[in-house]
Amino acid sequence: MSSAGLKSAPGSALRGIVRAPGDKSISHRSMILGALATGTTTVEGLLEGDDVLATARAMQAFGARVEREGVGRWRIEGQGGFAEPSDVIDCGNAGTGVRLIMGAAAGFAMCATFTGDSSLRGRPMGRVLDPLARMGATWLGRDKGRLPLTLKGGNLRGLTYTLPMASAQVKSAVLLAGLHAEGGVEVIEPEATRDHTERMLRAFGAEVIVEDRVAGDKTIRHIRLPEGQTLTGTHVAVPGDPSSAAFPLVAGLIVPGSEVTVEGVMLNELRTGLFTTLREMGADLVISNRRMASGEEVGDITARYSALKGVVVPPERAPAMIDEYPILAVAAAFADGPTVMRGIGEMRVKESDRIALTAAGLRACGVAVEEEPEGMTVVGTRGGGHPVRGGGLVHTHGDHRIAMSHLILGMAAQEPVAVDEPGMIATSFPGFAELMRGLGATLAEA
Ligand code: S3P
Repeated sequence: MSSAGLKSAPGSALRGIVRAPGDKSISHRSMILGALATGTTTVEGLLEGDDVLATARAMQAFGARVEREGVGRWRIEGQGGFAEPSDVIDCGNAGTGVRLIMGAAAGFAMCATFTGDSSLRGRPMGRVLDPLARMGATWLGRDKGRLPLTLKGGNLRGLTYTLPMASAQVKSAVLLAGLHAEGGVEVIEPEATRDHTERMLRAFGAEVIVEDRVAGDKTIRHIRLPEGQTLTGTHVAVPGDPSSAAFPLVAGLIVPGSEVTVEGVMLNELRTGLFTTLREMGADLVISNRRMASGEEVGDITARYSALKGVVVPPERAPAMIDEYPILAVAAAFADGPTVMRGIGEMRVKESDRIALTAAGLRACGVAVEEEPEGMTVVGTRGGGHPVRGGGLVHTHGDHRIAMSHLILGMAAQEPVAVDEPGMIATSFPGFAELMRGLGATLAEA
């Protein structure tokens, strides 16, 4: 990892057509389900980011044969289950990786010890360990279930579990453990979260029953995995990651004169809350060439420079855009009037406290931000007729999305913006700097 920072500078309009990197959520799941399955799984378009590579190594440690056959093309020979690993499993920076793998591992009578980088070691694992313990797994770890921790699984009981927070990672951990639980499992979701695990379990041959029940003015989702499901290897074509596509697209919206197209972006509506919000802000975002790929709708999205206005983002939209608030906050900085974001407390337990770091980064660039325990309001500068100043050095605390968001801000501000630890961008978006340069952005070592 480079120790130098990275700096973006204002320049000419951004123009061009690029491809979104593979979706991170689906890439992790293709490795894990491939290793749990019997037979061969082939993957194309895998995100070869550091997070997913850590999951690939973990699957090898649990006994699967994992081979890279070409750019984004991988083959996994699953053993129909996990074998006890002989060493500690290091999941790097990846919350999705460790939480889903712990769920999967809990199904087997063995011990596994997990750790990660300093960010991951600080993140709450109790949210996954609580339901796994109710199913019969045991664990020993640091305070509040922080990593490193050792998990012992096997002989699991079934569970009906209502998610206490909107988390696809927790839902997925319970479903994966449920593959080997007596009586199966049911997860109840008060707010629907990304459904990639459900879709992919089906693609690997499992029966997953999803029912939306209306309760008052809310719809509660029930996801049931009956006992005795087996997985069979399959082919996975990973669609482009909307969370990564967000960066060049927002750049296209805020750098004057720009027109940027990102091809092959997944349009699963549990992931596209950002695009809905940007449109409400007046963004010229056009989706074309809609098609299906491996059970997900994908399309090409074109963003043209737009006069954005501030909006109130409905809190119930948060699960469909939880990783996108930092880049939305950047778009909001260039809008006319305030943009109000609420119901986003989960942002504080991501790779960093993303509310605090987004607020600090934007303030360092001359943008007014009001921070709340579970929200933030960004006051756009367009209405006042003064541009976003930029000029900040942004401390990312190793958070890839904080780094990319502020680099995009620097492309449209008056003064360059520098970020520390740009090497972390490779956790989710290897090649980000080259892709942005290809569109005409100015990015240099700081
Ligand atoms: C993910 C779920 C979300 C998201 C993360 C990926 C997944 O986390 O922030 O980047 O792949 O299931 P939570 O489950 O903590 O909301």
